[in-house]
Amino acid sequence: MAIRETWATRIGFILAAVGSAVGLGNIWRFPFLTAESGGAAFLVAYLILIVVIGLPVMLVEFVIGRRAKQNVVGAFPEIGAPTWKFIGAIGALAGFVILSYYSVVGGWVIQYIVGSVTGGYAGNAEAFFGSAAEGTNALAYDLLFMAIVAGIVSLGVRDGLERAAKVMIPSVVGLLVILAAYGATLSGASEGYAYYLSPDMSTIVGDAISLLPDAAGQAFFTLSLGMGVMITYASYLGEDRNLLHDSLLIVAVDTFVAILAGLAVFPFLFAQGVDPGAGGVGTTFVGLASAFGTLPGGQVVGFVFFSMLFLAALTSAFSILEVIVSFAIDTFDVDRRPATVAIAAVIFLVGVPTAMSLDYLTLYDAIANQILLIGGGLLLAIFGGWFFASEASDELRRGMPGGETLTTVWIWVLRVPVVLVLAYVLYNGIVAVAGIVGGM
Ligand code: PFF
Repeated sequence: MAIRETWATRIGFILAAVGSAVGLGNIWRFPFLTAESGGAAFLVAYLILIVVIGLPVMLVEFVIGRRAKQNVVGAFPEIGAPTWKFIGAIGALAGFVILSYYSVVGGWVIQYIVGSVTGGYAGNAEAFFGSAAEGTNALAYDLLFMAIVAGIVSLGVRDGLERAAKVMIPSVVGLLVILAAYGATLSGASEGYAYYLSPDMSTIVGDAISLLPDAAGQAFFTLSLGMGVMITYASYLGEDRNLLHDSLLIVAVDTFVAILAGLAVFPFLFAQGVDPGAGGVGTTFVGLASAFGTLPGGQVVGFVFFSMLFLAALTSAFSILEVIVSFAIDTFDVDRRPATVAIAAVIFLVGVPTAMSLDYLTLYDAIANQILLIGGGLLLAIFGGWFFASEASDELRRGMPGGETLTTVWIWVLRVPVVLVLAYVLYNGIVAVAGIVGGM
């Protein structure tokens, strides 16, 4: 059996985890969800859930991965909990579903990069989206995006994932700062900020329950939780570090990028008079493209924006593929390269319906976020909080001297609030997905 790979550096691990977290979720999904769900009210609910629900579940994934040093499925028997293996299996399944449509959206991004160069979307943003998002274009660029992702994953942990994340993530953050600064100079800026940043407390309290499922789904999606990415990434840790520090940093950077993305995106949309809540999955693309199509120098800004989005999407996409590839390598003792190609091909096939129809893309997105990730998170919280609590606490304290009180608080947050909220959200998610399927 081949020797298990490890990260070369601490910063490499952190950037790879940030790379997984920061992606289309922050820049494409977050603005349109925020817009659909009433702007700032959603933002507040989301921020609370990130801290109270997201961070504790991330720590569960990290302690399982670091203790087991195994893939998402094999980790459970390795830490003495073979009956819980099914959590890992659900995670791997979620990976197939998520990457299958994530790569379709990744393919849209490539088309928008090309469109920025050729001027393809200038003046006809709606039509461009229509021809990019569904059908043969979508499928062809989906394939291209998957091929790039598979190329990086086949290079391995250090030479592929770590090296790519080290270059790409600082570029994403730098470019986003420039774009947000440019957005601030636009005429729609103050209107966009007001919509985005001034919460109406009465809607938050009144709508708290109805905001919860989407906000929790987004919190899990954006932090890449519930399907074992963080188990897999922590399994490549060679030494004991302070996992709480690392998680806080990852959560902070991801949240910073999401907020920054909103600051960059909303001024463009408002400058165009686009209603950000109206268009569902297409809002960000259509609204931004029409802004880039009319602003002076918009083609350059568009090129920068979509290139940044492409890098962000890549680092997330390869983390999803890595979960499944790492399972295949550990379990079947196969070589990384053929395993990567075969798995990427299957994922591509699973995603064909989502490239052909936006209805399927919306359905896959709902199944992944509202059922699979939330269900995975719920099971991880039950496992970590109730069945594995003392080992999990021991593991968290390695690399974190002291910390008795903190670990106790962590376990109790998992046991009660996290379990209750996720159970409620899962129930809602199942009802919502059944509704989407019924309406198809
Ligand atoms: N966190 C990624 C994003 O915000 O785009 C998406 C994602 C990656 C979700 C990995 C789930 C996952 F396991």
